Amino acid sequence: MRTAEPYRIKMVEPIRLIPQEERVAKLKEAGYNPFLLRSEDVYIDLLTDSGTGAMSDAQWGAMMLGDESYAGSKSFYKLEKSVQDVLGYKYLIPTHQGRGAEQVLFPLVIKHSGQYVLGNMHFDTTKAHIELAKGRAVNFVIEDAYDSSTYHPFKGNFDLEKMAAFIAEQSAENIAFILITVTCNSAGGQPVSMENIRGVHEIARKHNIALFFDAARFAENAYFIKQRETGYENKSVPEIVREMLSYADGLTMSAKKDGLVNMGGMIAIKEDEELFKKCQSYVVPFEGFPTYGGLSGRDMEALAQGLREGVEEDYLAHRIGQVEYLGEKLREIGVPIQYPTGGHAVFVDAKALLPHIPNLQFPAQALANELYLEGGIRGVEVGSFLLGRDPETREELISPMEFLRLTIPRRTYTNNHMDFIVDTFKEIMARKDQIRGVRFTYEPEILRHFTSRLAPVEA
Ligand code: F0G
Repeated sequence: MRTAEPYRIKMVEPIRLIPQEERVAKLKEAGYNPFLLRSEDVYIDLLTDSGTGAMSDAQWGAMMLGDESYAGSKSFYKLEKSVQDVLGYKYLIPTHQGRGAEQVLFPLVIKHSGQYVLGNMHFDTTKAHIELAKGRAVNFVIEDAYDSSTYHPFKGNFDLEKMAAFIAEQSAENIAFILITVTCNSAGGQPVSMENIRGVHEIARKHNIALFFDAARFAENAYFIKQRETGYENKSVPEIVREMLSYADGLTMSAKKDGLVNMGGMIAIKEDEELFKKCQSYVVPFEGFPTYGGLSGRDMEALAQGLREGVEEDYLAHRIGQVEYLGEKLREIGVPIQYPTGGHAVFVDAKALLPHIPNLQFPAQALANELYLEGGIRGVEVGSFLLGRDPETREELISPMEFLRLTIPRRTYTNNHMDFIVDTFKEIMARKDQIRGVRFTYEPEILRHFTSRLAPVEA
């Protein structure tokens, strides 16, 4: 039987749809870049699912128990126990967020300049940290990930043959490590199957290459395995999580997603004490003493509880169900999306929706602006505008997909909000042929996604 939200609301945060004329003015002031809007001018904020979820009463309660000792905090040991129970790894190094973990771990495992880091599809900060550590990031996600319209249950999977051929060609000494991103954010929040994870593990073991997870959305991935992979229907999500993670040597995690906290992250190591010790000494100058590493005691309390809540099945069923609900409603009115819907977001295929806008006039950015003008909703472009230029030649790169990501915060909005988003799209669909692309009025050297200013191209 279908059920409703597995929670009731104890505290509310007012939001407001400002009048249309104001939205027009605010977007213009923001240089047609929704990153530059003030959140108070946004009605439904779908910029990210990172750190934007609602904590539970048990998490808020736990925060009062935070032990703020510099060394040996009780809250650290509580978090360590939670990591051991939920993730099945022995060692924990807390960090302030996911990229803090990447910054500490990657330089320790990239042994020499030019070594490759193989992934299904690396997230942007992850790729940046690989490159800062003088590594080279390569993606091996299956081709189906680039075809938004055809169904594949695990579009985050690695193309194992292609990766094995690459290792054979480059030789294993030139590979620093393999990183499995679950779910695969950049491919549309798409899951990786257990069979595929096992396949990656076998390749890594055969060549003695280290294997890590980028585990930001580990619980959502486990839930998809339960739903879609034969043999896992009757396993519990916590069991699936532990099996998944057992295939790797360690993980980095942005706990702002499935950890259900507003700020936090970690490195966790399965059993390699030597690597753990290296991380422990390296974390000190970057993040902090190893028993807090960038988090306050109260943050560690909230995360210790959040990790346990994040793998509860009724929570996950509602969470993934809500994203799917939005995806299905959008499909019904003819909006092309990455199909099937991912775990944390609906990725609208803006290239298919607005075929008259060329890639370098950023169709997904144009659509993001339209969504704000029509309904005060803030989404985020994941396409050529995000990809940016080749750092050496400065030439524009063209992304294989032009997505508008509608990222759903956890336990935050109701399905009534989802219906409002669908109604907004209905209005946009009726005039989609008149939507114009955008051009730069200001483009910074790097990370242009966040600070560029744009204007609609003239008709
Ligand atoms: N890895 C993945 C797969 C992510 O999605 C993110 C962040 C990170 C690493 C970095 O973690 O933000 O805690 O430092 N993703 C957010 C997003 C920002 O909007 O998708 P962080």
